[in-house]
Amino acid sequence: MSRLAIIGGSGIYDIDGLEDAKWQTIETPWGQPSDKILTGRLGETEMAFLPRHGRGHVHSPTTVPYRANIDALKRLGVTDVISISACGSFREDMAPGDFVLVDQFVDRTFAREKSFFGTGCVAHVSVAHPVCERLRGAVKASAADITLHDGGTYLAMEGPQFSTVAESKLYRDVWGCDVIGMTNMPEAKLAREAELCYASVAMITDYDSWHPDHDTVQITEIIATLRGNAEKARMLVRAVAETLAGPHPDCPHGCDRALEYAIMTGPEA
Ligand code: ADE
Repeated sequence: MSRLAIIGGSGIYDIDGLEDAKWQTIETPWGQPSDKILTGRLGETEMAFLPRHGRGHVHSPTTVPYRANIDALKRLGVTDVISISACGSFREDMAPGDFVLVDQFVDRTFAREKSFFGTGCVAHVSVAHPVCERLRGAVKASAADITLHDGGTYLAMEGPQFSTVAESKLYRDVWGCDVIGMTNMPEAKLAREAELCYASVAMITDYDSWHPDHDTVQITEIIATLRGNAEKARMLVRAVAETLAGPHPDCPHGCDRALEYAIMTGPEA
């Protein structure tokens, strides 16, 4: 059976229209998740929803308990995770209000726990292709009237401050990144370690600081754009749930078998 989880970023603290909706407390060995998890059904599809920053927005990008979040979703039987989060754009043609279906990441975060594996059990999974192409395809097929750019490299920064102009130009002009955000890493890496299919929809709220006409990012503008996008995000969630209805296939890209050849520690350890 499949279960689809949505991890909602800034401005997305619940999803509507769930049947049998209930907020559940899930304990994990990695501590408390960001919040209770809302479970229920959208049509035929079992759902789970987790507000990444917690209701009331109590976790900063650095303090989000990424390991507890992914582990809690796994414990609930989740098979597919779609992240919906705000981002800045490095491209004129990717405008505020547009959505980007991310396919690559540059991870510049440095103050977060990034793995379930360490002392005692060591594993090295591949994240060469960090996004599940099957799940990305399902989102793309569900986008209908939403302006959704197919593919983009997301630079994950530590924050919580936004970038300087020099950093923004480096990420855009030298590194060739398309969007920037603070939360998709290490989430995507942890989802792979947990053998979950993961896709990310980045909702553009601003042009970061490289743009000559928009050189400071203001949180008030971000919130206003997010409010304008909330209904589009809800429509997308309903449509993806419908697209994914039915039994969960073996992942053609092997996300659900990521640990098969990844564990270094012997059984005797
Ligand atoms: N989230 C929304 N806009 C952002 C930006 N410009 N940089 C980092 N995270 C963001």
